[in-house]
Amino acid sequence: MNLIFLGPPGAGKGTVAAIIKEKLGLVHISTGDLFRDNIKKETPLGKKVKEILASGGLVGDDITCQMVRERLKQDDCKNGFILDGFPRTIPQADDLQSFAHIDAAIEFAISTDEVVTRLSGRRVCPSTGKIYHVIFNPPKKEGFDDETGEALIQRDDDKEDAIKHRLEVYHSQTEPLIAYYKEKGLLKSFDASASSKNVADGILALAK
Ligand code: AP5
Repeated sequence: MNLIFLGPPGAGKGTVAAIIKEKLGLVHISTGDLFRDNIKKETPLGKKVKEILASGGLVGDDITCQMVRERLKQDDCKNGFILDGFPRTIPQADDLQSFAHIDAAIEFAISTDEVVTRLSGRRVCPSTGKIYHVIFNPPKKEGFDDETGEALIQRDDDKEDAIKHRLEVYHSQTEPLIAYYKEKGLLKSFDASASSKNVADGILALAK
């Protein structure tokens, strides 16, 4: 099964993907994670996109599509994948059609107030990327990862100004994809203000 996770920043796409991928044996491909990995390793791509991510803007369509196209060629994608955060523009969605088949686009529907609360409280493990929230999903020991014991960090783009910009970019460039996939008969909408388990159960029911 090949899925797209579509929704505003902080809607819970990464959290639900971590549940679904285990149960369905899918590969979780987050374009945000791929960019952050390149930034961490200081690759040429990472140097090019560092400022863009910190500000909450979008990386160019050509660079992003090329990165996803190459990732989907890898063997582990043969049994299915979750594309989390891609496509994010109409040109990316058009391009995706030329190199992958998609079974469903999952919309994470949620209010702006809710995503601001979620993003401002999000903390992540720097090495594994495991996602926490200071209130909704706190680690066992405040400020530290449950498994590795590392100090948790706040993403640069989870600061107030960047959150505001990301939401503007989402509404202008990504939200039109909801109508795009609806028209193709691929859209499945879920209330993402529910618990991540409820959202995951709803998506898992699609696979039955
Ligand atoms: P990316 O990493 O994709 O960020 P995003 O789409 O903005 O999504 P987030 O990771 O912020 O949120 P999420 O929905 O995964 O929520 P999460 O599960 O963490 O992209 C980052 C940047 O990379 C972009 O701004 C852009 O610059 C670039 N980029 C990426 N893809 C691109 C593309 N295709 N084209 C161009 N540029 C691209 O949850 C959030 C918080 O809420 C957590 O703290 C979590 O614990 C909590 N939470 C989750 N679910 C629940 C729940 N049900 N109840 C309560 N709390 C919850």
